[in-house]
Amino acid sequence: MTVLVTGAAGFIGFHTCRRLLERGERVVGIDNLNTYYDPALKRSRLAVLGEKPGFVFHMVDIADRAAMAEVAKANPDITRYINLAAQAGVRHSLNAPFDYTHSNVEGLLVLLEMARANDKCEHVVYASSSSVYGTNTKLPFSVEDRVDTPISLYAATKRAGELMSHAYSHLFRIPTTGLRFFTVYGPWGRPDMAAYLFAKAILADQPIRVFNNGDMRRDFTYIDDIVAGVIGVLDNPPKDAAGVPPYHLYNIGNNNSEHLMDFIGLIEQSLGRKAIYQFEPMQPGDVKETYADISAIQRDVGFAPTTPISVGIPRFIDWFKAHHGV
Ligand SMILES: NC(=O)c1ccc[n+]([C@@H]2O[C@H](COP(=O)([O-])OP(=O)(O)OC[C@H]3O[C@@H](n4cnc5c(N)ncnc54)[C@H](O)[C@@H]3O)[C@@H](O)[C@H]2O)c1
Repeated sequence: MTVLVTGAAGFIGFHTCRRLLERGERVVGIDNLNTYYDPALKRSRLAVLGEKPGFVFHMVDIADRAAMAEVAKANPDITRYINLAAQAGVRHSLNAPFDYTHSNVEGLLVLLEMARANDKCEHVVYASSSSVYGTNTKLPFSVEDRVDTPISLYAATKRAGELMSHAYSHLFRIPTTGLRFFTVYGPWGRPDMAAYLFAKAILADQPIRVFNNGDMRRDFTYIDDIVAGVIGVLDNPPKDAAGVPPYHLYNIGNNNSEHLMDFIGLIEQSLGRKAIYQFEPMQPGDVKETYADISAIQRDVGFAPTTPISVGIPRFIDWFKAHHGV
């Protein structure tokens, strides 16, 4: 089987490609290696993937229709798609809004068109985000809940992606599955996310910025659990039943809402150093708490996260220290 994975040089894309290659699939990786964060980390991830047989890489922007058509032409054996390329980050969407519509809306549309033109397409899996729940207060967040009140452009583009995918599943009977990720962390993680930012600052004796005075909760999900879920879903495309489009949408989280201060405490413990706290108010666009109801993905593909933060954080810190030669 040949799987096209976009965002292959990104955090979740890298781990997903690696797992697919380990089980013997051919993987066509796409990434534009943009500079939202240090592309050297993206290149290091690609170097690991490049050592494995079955991996080909195209440095392409997913919103570039002509370039994506070339990728399709060069790889006529693609049957499945995993779209992880995106402009991520809630806070950055306040400053660079067009990066979000470009990659998350236009880019996903190009991918859906690519799948539409491929009569061998079996499944399109794409990343959404827990941020679509916006100011919802009913916990845990369920895919049955209404999500009509995004509070960041990032969330709005992710919701748009879900709606566009539904339209393509309905119109063209393309099996699509959206995954609402909940704060993913682990080795090879993103430098703009909390675990990385905190570890870096603590080791440099710099203060860490803690928003909403530390009164935040997140459903932190360890990367290996996420990848197991992504691939489990990939292998279970939604069925095309009469009158119902082949469309699924799942939360993929740890089903555990952890207090931010406990998360920081584990980072301190793993590093053997105390943080200097700089408490700050809530950031615009951010939500106070996320908590995933994962019963749908549990029921349909047997997804069962197994890594609590007490196990995942030390693993992340081990990688961080090795990667930075600490
Ligand atoms: N990490 C999380 O906690 C989290 C939470 C919710 C949702 N998500 C979503 O999961 C997906 C993967 O996130 P990640 O954490 O791996 O992020 P990431 O930034 O590490 O990976 C995204 C990759 O996509 C690439 N990319 C961006 N725009 C592109 C474009 N137009 N064309 C080609 N490549 C492009 C980037 O260079 C990057 O390597 C994203 O869709 C993100 O929105 C992640």
